[in-house]
Amino acid sequence: MQIPQDLIETATLKLKSVQSEAEFFQLRSQYLGKKSFIISAFSKLRDLDPQSKASAAKELNILKSKLTKLFEDALASIESIGEHDQLDVTLPADPYLIGSEHPITKISQKVIDYFIPLNYQIFSGNEIETDFYNFEALNFPENHPARQMHDTFYLNSNSKSEYLLRTHTSNTQIHSMLKEDMPLYMLSPGRVYRCDSDTTHLPMFTQIEGLVVDEDVTFGDLKGIIIDFLENFFNEKMEVRFRPSYFPFTEPSAEVDIKFGNQGWLEILGCGMVHPNVLKGCNVDTKKYRGFAFGMGIERLAMLYYGVSDIRDFYSSNLDFLNQFPS
Ligand code: PHE
Repeated sequence: MQIPQDLIETATLKLKSVQSEAEFFQLRSQYLGKKSFIISAFSKLRDLDPQSKASAAKELNILKSKLTKLFEDALASIESIGEHDQLDVTLPADPYLIGSEHPITKISQKVIDYFIPLNYQIFSGNEIETDFYNFEALNFPENHPARQMHDTFYLNSNSKSEYLLRTHTSNTQIHSMLKEDMPLYMLSPGRVYRCDSDTTHLPMFTQIEGLVVDEDVTFGDLKGIIIDFLENFFNEKMEVRFRPSYFPFTEPSAEVDIKFGNQGWLEILGCGMVHPNVLKGCNVDTKKYRGFAFGMGIERLAMLYYGVSDIRDFYSSNLDFLNQFPS
């Protein structure tokens, strides 16, 4: 039996000039249909003697599977051309799921949105800090017990290491006063770190620091802005309590509690009048200027705002939890 050797070559060439599906199927039946060389050759095998029958059958089978593969591949690419032709660029795109803002980001932004119209400038701070900015310049004397209250992470295991993870955003008070001219209205959101962990505490959490340095600033101004902020934030009249407290960098100092639902008093921020030692250390003229500062915990605000009872939910990367805060 004569088997043409160039079948694959000619089929490949002809397939290249195929323009439509109809042309393709026509060509395929020419090469693989009932009347094609291959199929009729199979039926002629029975006329051959056993030996040549076996070798011809083998050759024909190889050829047939090569041709079949060739046409299958060609069909796949023709179909994808067809899909291309049908692409309607005027259809609206499928929504691309990129997630939503994290609830802590949303609450930080909500706080920032209140202070921006009051001309507070946003100041970003370092999370890796030196003892000087985190403690010393904030009037924490060396070996003062207040340092122990902070459960500091030092970047070396020995606690005399120069670098530490800031324990509060109050370091930005020092950076901003050293950098900017007075008067100063600044707000600084960011992460802080303490060696502490349970249902209401995390080793990493978020604070927003506020600092105002201006002439004639009083504790009354501080109280006014905090109460107004809280009522704006929760969008209702709030019961707010200023409880005398102690921070080395403010004098007098207070912790602010709010009554929320039936949960009793809840502490949400620390504040006070900036201690003169802190102002002097930052070369602020204390005869002319006074200041107040406050620092609030964003996770705490977010727990109250959204009714979340376990602070760890914010950072467990659980989509069922996070999907409840769509943008
Ligand atoms: N830095 C204090 C804390 O983390 C809060 C604070 C900020 C208090 C500013 C007074 C003034 O507990």
